[in-house]
Amino acid sequence: MITVDELSVAYGDLQVLWDISMEVTESDGIVAIVGSNGAGKTTLLKTLSGLIKPKSGSVTLFEEDINTLSPEDIVRQGFVHVPEARNLFTEMTVIENIEMGAYTNREERQRIMDDVFELFPVLQERRKQQAGTLSGGEQQMLAIGRGLMAQPKVLALDELSVGLAPMLTRRVFEKVEAISEEVTVILTEQHVNEALELADRAYLLENGRIIAEDDADALLDDNRIIRTYLR
Ligand SMILES: Nc1ncnc2c1ncn2[C@@H]1O[C@H](COP(=O)(O)OP(=O)(O)OP(=O)(O)O)[C@@H](O)[C@H]1O
Ligand SMILES: [Mg+2]
Repeated sequence: MITVDELSVAYGDLQVLWDISMEVTESDGIVAIVGSNGAGKTTLLKTLSGLIKPKSGSVTLFEEDINTLSPEDIVRQGFVHVPEARNLFTEMTVIENIEMGAYTNREERQRIMDDVFELFPVLQERRKQQAGTLSGGEQQMLAIGRGLMAQPKVLALDELSVGLAPMLTRRVFEKVEAISEEVTVILTEQHVNEALELADRAYLLENGRIIAEDDADALLDDNRIIRTYLR
């Protein structure tokens, strides 16, 4: 579904991704992109969702060159990105936020919404509450639920654990595991250990380069990872 080949990305003169190659297929459950602050994880997801143009290299999304697709096309094709900042409409209610996710698919809205509420019952309980007054974990669930409304084939989740206590992170990760049974999930994390325990496969990104890629279990045993992240 996604092929990234020798991708480089720069902000003006500042290059932040170098020669990234990766592949995500329909048979993937959860693919993690792990690395420290500033490694380039968010930049990579923004490039996949068409928000940043590559400097060189190519990204093929659902068999089309990403340069030919607008960010809206990319969502319609089935790549949905839940950004790090969640971008909720904080003054609007939970249900209004969820409805905003469905602009690609009005007729099936109710059925998909029922699925989202089944996955996140708390969102149904709080459907009339202002999004900005939800707890951090509830807001994260709302952001994911809104993303699901667009019926993604690939759901890209940027740094789910930001601002969440470890117990809430675990709860959100359990939901992600459930989602991954139907949708391929790409997630970025600086909590490398937790992400590798959740993912099937992972890429380790450091200073804008992929320095390791393997099954998540194998990476958990990799000395480079243990030394740097898993003290
Ligand atoms: N809009 C921008 N303009 C200039 N530089 C940027 C911009 N956005 C990000 N950068 C730089 O690009 C590098 C990669 O940033 P990015 O946000 O992709 O990292 P990240 O891996 O997501 O980090 P974090 O774990 O902190 O979210 C950083 O050095 C950052 O300062
Ligand atoms: Mg980031």
